[in-house]
Amino acid sequence: LNYRVPKTRKDIFTTLVKGLQRLEYRGYDSAGVAVDGCGKVDTNSICLFKKKGKVKALDEELYKNDSIDLELELDTHFGIAHTRWATHGEPSAVNSHPQRSDKNNEFVVIHNGIITNYKELKKYLISKGYEFESETDTEVIPKLIKYLYDNRESNYVSFSTLVERVIQQLEGAFALVFKSIHFPGQAVATRSAATVFSSIPPFSVFICDTRIDVQSKNYINRVDSSNALHSVNDRMAVEFYFASDASAIIEHTNKVMYLEDDDIAAVADGKLSVHRMSRSAGEDPVRVIQTLQMELQQIMKGNFKAFMQKEIFEQPESVFNTMRGRICFDTNTVILGGLKDHLKEIKRCRRLIIIGCGTSFHAGVATRQILEELTELPVMVELASDFLDRTTPVYRDDVCFFISQSGETADTLMALRYCKDRGALTVGVTNTVGSSISRETDCGVHINAGPEIGVASTKAYTSQFVSLVMFGLMMSEDRLSLQKRREEIINGLSKLPELIKEVLALDDKIKCIADELYQEKSLLVMGRGYHYATCLEGALKVKEITYMHSEGILAGELKHGPLALIDYHMPVIMVIMRDACYTKCHNALQQVTARQGRPIILCCQDDPDISKMAYKTIELPHTVDCLQGILCVIPLQLMSFHLAVLRGYDVDFPRNLAKSVTVE
Ligand code: G6P
Repeated sequence: LNYRVPKTRKDIFTTLVKGLQRLEYRGYDSAGVAVDGCGKVDTNSICLFKKKGKVKALDEELYKNDSIDLELELDTHFGIAHTRWATHGEPSAVNSHPQRSDKNNEFVVIHNGIITNYKELKKYLISKGYEFESETDTEVIPKLIKYLYDNRESNYVSFSTLVERVIQQLEGAFALVFKSIHFPGQAVATRSAATVFSSIPPFSVFICDTRIDVQSKNYINRVDSSNALHSVNDRMAVEFYFASDASAIIEHTNKVMYLEDDDIAAVADGKLSVHRMSRSAGEDPVRVIQTLQMELQQIMKGNFKAFMQKEIFEQPESVFNTMRGRICFDTNTVILGGLKDHLKEIKRCRRLIIIGCGTSFHAGVATRQILEELTELPVMVELASDFLDRTTPVYRDDVCFFISQSGETADTLMALRYCKDRGALTVGVTNTVGSSISRETDCGVHINAGPEIGVASTKAYTSQFVSLVMFGLMMSEDRLSLQKRREEIINGLSKLPELIKEVLALDDKIKCIADELYQEKSLLVMGRGYHYATCLEGALKVKEITYMHSEGILAGELKHGPLALIDYHMPVIMVIMRDACYTKCHNALQQVTARQGRPIILCCQDDPDISKMAYKTIELPHTVDCLQGILCVIPLQLMSFHLAVLRGYDVDFPRNLAKSVTVE
């Protein structure tokens, strides 16, 4: 929302569309915007543009439309935009957001999350004569606010009061932004979850002020006795952005205020005020304006074809950044600042439970063995959804780790609340400062990999991996019997960035292998021990972005089923490194070749025994066994990237997936 800073409509569209494009990795089946004014000059109306497909399609639509004067200068203006990942209702223009109250667009709303009681509300509103046009759960919201507006007792009801009344009727979890022709130049936004076990989509207000330094002004202060949290400055900020991710607005401002559950943020007359929902009265929160460290450069693709490719190639630096300032290579000590105050308590626990989804779960699988060895504790690794489905017993003396790149994955967040409720100590391992998981856990590690945009996670995996290994090293610092092992691992970590560069140099070779494989229907990835996780993660990359069927197979299970899949035609990748499982992997290799299988083998440099049985090899530098998975996963990341490009798919926007899944 820009306040008294004249801007053309074109500027407004550009800001909204660019912001959407930067958020597109979170959902991209359709997109929409709502801006002031329908005709050439009329601004007391709202016009909506919605389009199925990616944001680019919406952008083209905006410029095709000649009913709107793009050069028109507007003094104060509030526009909203949304890119959707369908939950209720197929991807289509009518199901995309903003959703509206009526044909005049009196109220328009964008929504992230799920309204679980929408059916009841819809029935009620239909009984009041409202006609619904979409299949979304969201549409009840603009209709409900219009209903409340039309039936208001007083003409002086404020926009935020109306929004509060709407929220009181909603169940589920949501972040919402409202715009209305009845409140021109005003914006209201909120986030909320009706129950503790719903995940609230992330949401923040960003404040851009070209005239004053917001930070120096004690801009937002504490809740006062009237339960209103408000701005106290004598001058006003001139632009406000509400966004679910900093990447959407980072080119405009780095000043951010995170909204909490039940906050209602409203901008009117150029002033921001934040109220608490009345049901939350009695709390005494403080909202501070924080300065983000993120640089625009970090979210640009540069010379790479895709964000995923850029992120794969960033791994020497991202892995280094995960370790930076945390490992002293001279004294063999590791200090994770976010955990050190809880270390005593963690050491007293009876077991560690590592919980995550997708790639983050695989980081837990990959490090389980070394954590068992270094902590001498039982370690469970759990998929968040399954963990909750089983209502797994959790006790006060458990320590639960929540691994999540985004820090917002609904399943993981709900598992966190479940464990907290049972008194366990909760530890977050995330890549997003200020995310729900990092805020709600008792302590944690920020993996410092830098923003990850590609939907298929790459650099976050290797940094999560390194973070968990560092945790194991920190736990074992006073175990005499483990000192030699610790030294070996710390030495391995120090060399890791250089070895990753060596692996990345194999890109051309991997591309040649992809050239041979890209028309296949299936790809099996097989290994065991430390590399079971490598196989699961490699296969996940392949299925996510190439849509080939791919399975990560534990080589120990080969003869219990998967061997039936093997023949001359089935593409198989095997991971056989020189570690404790080498001989057993060799046996699996023989079983595969005996069935005319033609394996492509990831192996150590100079391993003639393996090379002679392989159809092709990808020879990798050697590191300590528990870190080898970091080097082995990279060729599989590269392979999936090349396969997807060769198959003609958009690597960063795989169909049906989203980067951060904030719904169950
Ligand atoms: C989604 C993404 C995956 C990701 C998973 C967990 O399914 O498509 O790539 O691994 O969520 O995400 P998180 O942000 O919790 O690590």
